Amino acid sequence: MTSPFKKNINKVEATHNLAKNEIVELLTNDEINEELFQAADRVREKYVGNEVHLRGLIEFSNICSKNCFYCGLRRDNKNIKRYKLEPEIIIDFATKAATYGYKTFVLQSGEGNLYTLEEMLYIISEIKKLDVAITLSIGEKTEEEYRAYKEAGADRFLLRIETTDKELYKKLHPDMSHENRINCLKIIKKLGYETGTGCLIGLPEQTMESLADDILFFKELGADMIGVGPFIPNEDTPLKNETGGSFELALKVMAITRLLLPDINIPATTAMETLNHQGRLIALQSGANVVMPNVTEGEYRDLYKLYPGKICINDTPAHCRSCITGKIQSIGRTVSKEYGFRKQLR
Ligand code: 5AD
Ligand code: SF4
Ligand code: FES
Repeated sequence: MTSPFKKNINKVEATHNLAKNEIVELLTNDEINEELFQAADRVREKYVGNEVHLRGLIEFSNICSKNCFYCGLRRDNKNIKRYKLEPEIIIDFATKAATYGYKTFVLQSGEGNLYTLEEMLYIISEIKKLDVAITLSIGEKTEEEYRAYKEAGADRFLLRIETTDKELYKKLHPDMSHENRINCLKIIKKLGYETGTGCLIGLPEQTMESLADDILFFKELGADMIGVGPFIPNEDTPLKNETGGSFELALKVMAITRLLLPDINIPATTAMETLNHQGRLIALQSGANVVMPNVTEGEYRDLYKLYPGKICINDTPAHCRSCITGKIQSIGRTVSKEYGFRKQLR
């Protein structure tokens, strides 16, 4: 018997549009999951091809002034050794990783004024000399700061909205403003960055309706990159006793996002691999076309602990590069040698 929701999949594969109630139907019914993943895989191949883009992730400081309820880096967590890498070390990690073939680096840290503006601009401009694209993932800043980073050579910016449900956002993010976060995303877009956002799946009290709103928000914003991952409860946070998100639901949100935004870049996220040891490969076959291997070296890999069970903490950047290349090739895909900008269809 064919599911009544097969029609939603046929519709979105042809038109890349769905109404909110149709998204909710897909999210709540599991009998069409395989069809959904296959449709997202076809759309991925048609619009962004078989190449997988690798982004080298540098986790350059785990210090954070924010207090997000789900995150191990939150400022009230005293059970974590904090670090902040010197600019020269950050540049050194990028320089080494560039020799393995990375054409993009993602510089990620907790929020706050950890470095002076001059230091940030120095780091960006030095890494830019390696002939790579630069993505920043450093949180909410002023328009002047975003502009200065862009002028120094930053190409892309990641700022997850985390959830579009205003009430839930307020509960989970003390002293943060949902409005300001959306405003930051608009500024980032206006300044000409490739703009990335995304959400957590399986937050306490999060509903399917709210996840459908998240997906529609990605489309409305005109995002160039979307990262979604399951929420994984962390012992050292107020949400330690929560259930967390499931791999399947995160995969479904990701697949529907691919169907609605066919030509964007979508990573197979590390949190997905934490919940399923084949998670990134399954994601790459369900709509994703990007992987972000960690190129941070040494003990810092373990110290950047958003959630437990993080993968690759005892591996080297060189090992991860060859590991993921082998995996990608094992599913008949290739590793891109390009910068991996969005190839937008107009
Ligand atoms: N589980 C999964 N993802 C998390 N993040 C933070 N804490 C967790 C957690 N416990 C995600 C947030 C943030 C990104 C860098 O990491 O979505 O934007
Ligand atoms: Fe800080 Fe980001 Fe973690 Fe929130 S999610 S506590 S802003 S590192
Ligand atoms: Fe790090 Fe496989 S990607 S060990």
